[in-house]
Amino acid sequence: MYSVRETDYGTPARLSERLVTLEIDGVEVSVPEGTSVMRAATQAGYSIPKLCATDMLESFGSCRLCLVEIEGRKGYPASCTTLVSAGMQVRTQSPALAKLRRNVMELYISDHPLDCLTCPANGNCELQDMAGVVGLREVRYGYDGANHLTAEKDQSNPYFTFDPTKCIVCSRCVRACEEVQGTYALTVDGRGFASMISPSAKESFFDSECVSCGACVQACPTATLMEKSIIDHGQPERSVVTTCAYCGVGCSFRAEMQGTQVVRMVPNKDGKANHGHSCVKGRFAWGYATHPDRIIKPMIRSRITDPWKEVTWNEAIAYAAAEFKRIQAKHGRGAVGGITSSRCTNEETYLVQKLVRAAFGNNNVDTCARVCHSPTGYGLKQTLGESAGTQNFDSVEQADVIMVIGANPTEGHPVFASQLKRRLREGAKLIIVDPRTIELVRQPHVQASHHLKLLPGTNVAVINALAHVVVTEGLTKEDYVRERCDLREYEKWKSFISQPRNSPEAMEPITGVPAAEVRAAARLYAGAHNAAIYYGLGVTEHSQGSTMVIGIANLAMATGNLGRSGVGVNPLRGQNNVQGSCDMGSFPHELPGYRHVSDAAVRGLFESEWHVSLDAEPGLRIPNMLDAALDGSFRGLYVQGEDIAQSDPNTQHVTDALGALECLVVQDLFLNETARFAHVFLPGSSFLEKNGTFTNAERRISPVRKVMPPLSGMEDWEVTAALSNALGYPMHYDHPAQIMDEIARLTPTFTGVNYAKLERLGSIQWPCNDKAPEGTPVMHVEQFVRGKGKFILSEYIPTDERATWEYPLLMTTGRVLSQYNVGAQTRRTENNRWHHEDVLEIHPHDAEQRGVREGDWVGVRSRAGETVLRATLTERVQPGVVYTTFHFPWSGANVVTTENSDWATNCPEYKVTAVQVSRVMQPSEWQKDYARFSQVQDRLLQERERTQV
Ligand code: SF4
Ligand code: SF4
Ligand code: SF4
Ligand code: FES
Repeated sequence: MYSVRETDYGTPARLSERLVTLEIDGVEVSVPEGTSVMRAATQAGYSIPKLCATDMLESFGSCRLCLVEIEGRKGYPASCTTLVSAGMQVRTQSPALAKLRRNVMELYISDHPLDCLTCPANGNCELQDMAGVVGLREVRYGYDGANHLTAEKDQSNPYFTFDPTKCIVCSRCVRACEEVQGTYALTVDGRGFASMISPSAKESFFDSECVSCGACVQACPTATLMEKSIIDHGQPERSVVTTCAYCGVGCSFRAEMQGTQVVRMVPNKDGKANHGHSCVKGRFAWGYATHPDRIIKPMIRSRITDPWKEVTWNEAIAYAAAEFKRIQAKHGRGAVGGITSSRCTNEETYLVQKLVRAAFGNNNVDTCARVCHSPTGYGLKQTLGESAGTQNFDSVEQADVIMVIGANPTEGHPVFASQLKRRLREGAKLIIVDPRTIELVRQPHVQASHHLKLLPGTNVAVINALAHVVVTEGLTKEDYVRERCDLREYEKWKSFISQPRNSPEAMEPITGVPAAEVRAAARLYAGAHNAAIYYGLGVTEHSQGSTMVIGIANLAMATGNLGRSGVGVNPLRGQNNVQGSCDMGSFPHELPGYRHVSDAAVRGLFESEWHVSLDAEPGLRIPNMLDAALDGSFRGLYVQGEDIAQSDPNTQHVTDALGALECLVVQDLFLNETARFAHVFLPGSSFLEKNGTFTNAERRISPVRKVMPPLSGMEDWEVTAALSNALGYPMHYDHPAQIMDEIARLTPTFTGVNYAKLERLGSIQWPCNDKAPEGTPVMHVEQFVRGKGKFILSEYIPTDERATWEYPLLMTTGRVLSQYNVGAQTRRTENNRWHHEDVLEIHPHDAEQRGVREGDWVGVRSRAGETVLRATLTERVQPGVVYTTFHFPWSGANVVTTENSDWATNCPEYKVTAVQVSRVMQPSEWQKDYARFSQVQDRLLQERERTQV
């Protein structure tokens, strides 16, 4: 249910530029054509009673409470279903209307429990409000007639309850599930008086198809669907707009508060990335922020076999700084470095890279984007001139053909997936390129026209085959290319791509995709008025990740699908601030704004602002840091908000390297897998405890606002600044707004960004500067950022990681809706009820060959290592391919992944690992070691020397 604090206009806004003028209660009102009378009246400040209408949903007209009188029309039309027309004269109040409305309310209330005082919705219930508004004073039918007051409550969902005794069957929930979420989990079961809302086939919410997005709870006007947190704590007293800290969609939420306690997260209707929608993570899984596992006091220890010792902030910072200085004095300036996080704010990330460059005096800074979207940065920069997605999310509403490559939006980017599904229901066509049958392939009212079910590792072969068809069948947009692209490069590319070896027929034995299917998909994409490509880590996390991004950009340029709404090349970023962490200069070769450290002019800018001279040599990437740690030349590391021991490939190699460090400083919410190798632990602050900004996948910078004080007493940016000061490089800021001002001074695409403007506009898509003072929803409109778009040859080179006799299956990885990344946050919430362990998906044919049955333990062995998972048999994967997730550290998915990586960026090849799978009876050796090490570390934490700080 919407909080009483937000106006509900009853029906959705219309965007028509043609205004219609009418009279409401004698006052002239002008609204866009297509607007309902109800919305026009609400916009003009009148309030028409309503129950079945809400502005997130199309009108339905079932409750008959919103009746009005219209001059010249018979009867009493419903204002929610009646559209405005020029000169219309509407009366919203009259004695006859009052009587009709009271009659309607009487019927509702006669079948409703009269427990308002103890109802959790008390004070925020639309039924209660409407009874008051219509002046209901008695119910003539009494309360003893047939009713639903004994119906049983469904408490199965961990986050909300369904109490049918309070249901008025307005079907707002059913429509929300269909129109907003696109899941179709709810129906109205039965007819007339017997009508009841029912999840799926009369199942409980938990067992139904419900994905717990909360849209129905949001839409419900009564306490029928109600958040358990509100039942437990009561109604909020204030709300603060902030941004979800989970995925790259970057949904805007109102954190509803009682004092310093969050009681509910409500998706913000004004949020430009989510328009009032949410998924289970942002909406409900915020309890980790106050989980007892949080460590809120700094700790130090000399060796990782020692117990931790709680110390003051000053002691911890002084100890860390002294260690870094000692290491640099003994082993050289380059012996230390830092890792920034895509989970942290822009301001925090900016400070960490600044600390490394200015206080450590080297460029040894890298980020977790290294292991996800670094090829996006490289590929898009080379071809188009900017390392970012080209569109806003709303652009999908104008796409006619949508190609989704190596992404699983319903699991990874659920709110965008709902928007995409809505467009598909309106008639847009869908092409999926994925080794698995992801959910989008077949959904209610949504079916892909083509599913190119390729073998892992053959992306480039498929994109080349698609481009081959486009070129050889004359489907390119020659005018567009001639006007906007480098023609010499285009001709070279054309002659390369049209070679028979790139044809779908030649590629079929490699990719496993029937040539005819590729040809049909290419024609569909190239023939569309607007065709858009969305892609994910299934594109980037390959040895040819950068080549694939280039191939995608080539295809989009050749078909004229860049530079306007409805088209584009759109990387779906995994974590909340992947875009931002890259923008902020987290890579060892680039200063903020993607400018190379070797560029003396750019360095000069930073040197004069930072008052320090900067190293012109690129620093170490994460894999280089790990190798150097093992060879002894790299000894100290500062890691903020990142868990490389779980997230990076070849776990054994990573943990060996971490174990070899002399000083590892980890700043995080929890003692994560990496922190178990740390010497200094600096408590982190959750997104609820600090100010800053995140930048989502559409380059949208959104505010993160402090709704409660940091549990540890320090916001993350303050900790970095303190560490820098202790290292001897002064950093003095009073507020992250000043850090953003500094970023704006130094970064051309951010010059117009400041907190005051963010406050005014809600969010801003960069570039934001003199040319685009309010931001840029769509890039490359007049011309490409680099000038002429550059076609680059995308030769398919098979990965070294091939299926062999010894390792005959190809393992690929992904994520599930309820868990997030390494799971540190979601594992500490009720989301575990949906997914409490990582399993190995295997095709029934491959399972049978190995004698593996559903639920068996199987060993998964690769050239890098072995782990043991439970098997699940499914045809979602094709024969020869297995699949798993990596949300639980003890699953050890990354024990198996190899160190192969993208040729240009070192992004690991998580998506292709040759493995053998066999039935086993016990955990792998790695898992046994992991269990022993974890036990020791847990004990050292429990036995920590506590201080009264
Ligand atoms: S559960 Fe709520 S939204 Fe759904 S029909 Fe009942 S009252 Fe309406
Ligand atoms: S929570 Fe979302 S998916 Fe579940 S029934 Fe409600 S609207 Fe549908
Ligand atoms: S879609 Fe992403 S940003 Fe939105 S609520 Fe879910 S996790 Fe948060
Ligand atoms: S609000 Fe218009 S008919 Fe229900």
